[in-house]
Amino acid sequence: MAPIIVTGASGSMGRIAAKELAQEGVPVILACRNLERGRKLMDEILAVVPDARLELLQLDLESEAGVRSFVDALQGRPLAGIFNNAGTMCRRYSLAPDGREKTMTVNFFMPALLTRLLLPQFEPGARIVNMVSLSLKFSSLSLGDLNVGEKDFGQIRTYAKSKLALLLWTVALARHYPQFRVNVADPGIVDSKMIRMDRWFDPLTDILFRPFANTPEKGVRPALAALHSAESLRYFVGRRSPEIPAKYLRNPLAEQLWDHLNRSR
Ligand SMILES: NC(=O)c1ccc[n+]([C@@H]2O[C@H](COP(=O)([O-])OP(=O)(O)OC[C@H]3O[C@@H](n4cnc5c(N)ncnc54)[C@H](OP(=O)(O)O)[C@@H]3O)[C@@H](O)[C@H]2O)c1
Repeated sequence: MAPIIVTGASGSMGRIAAKELAQEGVPVILACRNLERGRKLMDEILAVVPDARLELLQLDLESEAGVRSFVDALQGRPLAGIFNNAGTMCRRYSLAPDGREKTMTVNFFMPALLTRLLLPQFEPGARIVNMVSLSLKFSSLSLGDLNVGEKDFGQIRTYAKSKLALLLWTVALARHYPQFRVNVADPGIVDSKMIRMDRWFDPLTDILFRPFANTPEKGVRPALAALHSAESLRYFVGRRSPEIPAKYLRNPLAEQLWDHLNRSR
């Protein structure tokens, strides 16, 4: 059986997805930026699933070089899918090594590049699940927004745009590759280190907000359902999986993003 890649496997939701897949007997490639955290996770999973088929590979989504070295390590092996779970929400404006803003790089440019480079290796029926966020619903996007300048940056604004770009690009991917099952998953608001804003009001949000957030176990459910889905172009959220809303399916930007990325890399 070919493996499924879980990116950000050492994170709050990634680790649960990896463990659940391993429990189902699916071989899993743990794609982690920090190998030490990845090794700990491997031990954790093997403690409960001793016959789990796991591989640990380093993946740094801050740079194209990181993505390409991960793809090289897989050397044309057949794959059953990918869960693009890794993500970030940088507090301050900062540039990734390739010179683009970091949140947009980690959440959109690199997962898209990674998925594109692996397309020839996916088996027919492979599952591609991209993790989005409800914040995208309050966002808007143009091609120009991909190039985030310092004055355009906002912690949540840029995060939301990166997830909207990922959603629209996923729409184009599903259309270009109907032989795969391509979906997005929205975990809601999840009590993970991601929702720490690193601001003075953190203690306040911890009291007011965290108790109402989903646990990572609950937040990852839509993504796990998407990984088992026979359909494409669905928006997995809570216990539901409606079609991706028409305003995104009809948005010409989906195809423009597809062309833009194909041209640029
Ligand atoms: N938490 C929420 O409320 C929420 C809501 C909507 C969507 N999401 C999305 O859900 C996904 C998982 O988030 P989470 O809540 O589980 O947060 P998390 O615990 O912070 O996990 C994020 C994962 O992404 C990895 N990552 C970050 N930057 C990376 C990079 N440059 N290269 C490779 N891996 C990198 C992290 O690696 P390390 O383990 O090394 O830190 C971590 O494993 C993200 O895509 C996030 O945007 C979260």
